[in-house]
Amino acid sequence: MKKNQWMKSLLACSMALLAYMPTQAQEPVNGQLWMDVDGNHINAHGGNIIQYGDTYYWYGENRPYRGFTTEEGVGVYSSKDLKTWKNEGIALAVTTEAGDDIERGCIMERPKVVYNKKTRKFVMLFHLELKGRGYEAARVAFAESDSPTGPFRYLRSTRVNAKRWPFDMNKKAQKAAQQTDASKWKDWWTPEWRKEVEKGMYLWKDFQGGQMSRDMTVFIDDDGKAYHITSSQENLTLLVSELTDDFLDFTGKYNMVAPGGQNEAPCIIKHDGTYWLICSGCTGWAPNEARMFSAPSIWGPWKQWKTPFVGTATGYRDMPANKTFGAQGTYIYSKDGKPIFMADIWNERHLSQSLHLWLPIEFGADGVPVIKWVDKW
Ligand code: DGJ
Repeated sequence: MKKNQWMKSLLACSMALLAYMPTQAQEPVNGQLWMDVDGNHINAHGGNIIQYGDTYYWYGENRPYRGFTTEEGVGVYSSKDLKTWKNEGIALAVTTEAGDDIERGCIMERPKVVYNKKTRKFVMLFHLELKGRGYEAARVAFAESDSPTGPFRYLRSTRVNAKRWPFDMNKKAQKAAQQTDASKWKDWWTPEWRKEVEKGMYLWKDFQGGQMSRDMTVFIDDDGKAYHITSSQENLTLLVSELTDDFLDFTGKYNMVAPGGQNEAPCIIKHDGTYWLICSGCTGWAPNEARMFSAPSIWGPWKQWKTPFVGTATGYRDMPANKTFGAQGTYIYSKDGKPIFMADIWNERHLSQSLHLWLPIEFGADGVPVIKWVDKW
């Protein structure tokens, strides 16, 4: 190898090593590991943040270094400034009871904790997959706690909206859905298949037992009403469902967003009266181009926009905007009216080492969200 070629590869190796090397730096830098006060990378993925009193709590998937099933549970960290984080341990722990919903080896994903002012409980909703059954259970699970750091009591898991039609689906459309048959369609993505999906083929498939619920978030509107937004119907269609006042159940009112659009990782923010939904496509752990929708009401109608991401992740592998800078969203947290888009840069081989990416959301003169790379938010 020529001398300057050798120097170049040495430099490339050192850069790659630096990006993954633990650092004691207190201030989180996008594209690098984020250390808690003990010097460990923050193992809280797919989660969210709440403020309670003068403290922020960050909940997320505690992921193993190897493998992808849940060995510990949902982790929680606390901070006074959103930058220095203390590990508060496992907020909701897996159990060792064979056959239990949350038996070690199940999959807990995308936990979202919200505080219910009426019941004074911290309520956690998360995507649950049962041990040994891959991603087929597709359930939402509920847990609650009197304290933000837990321990959360596991309550139950369920499919959603069993035997219910979307509130805005008329009788004629319901009839058309009932004439579909998902078992007939082995080939996806043909124009004929697409027509059937739009008629509600996958809604009808799970009508009796309840709709699937995988990637999810929870949104609390200004009037205190809470909504569960989830990727359903084989990840093809998003569902927005109203939660009961205690946030522990569904009222039965729901509708579909972008049927057949294959959106997941939903993140939502309301800005100047408009609801903005930012999602990803479905490519497993690999990044893809984000999708954005807006609506004047949580019940739609939703209009699709181009991705809000622009530019490149300068300094982080120069990942382009059309790959969401290598990340997938998990939540939008607003601090003093300034929204932060929280995302995970998944590390499929070592999920616990997946990086965090927080970027400010700016609203242009036209009121449309724009997200650019910054090293520090
Ligand atoms: C993408 C989802 O957004 C993640 O939460 C996780 O379920 C992975 N797929 C699994 O492949």
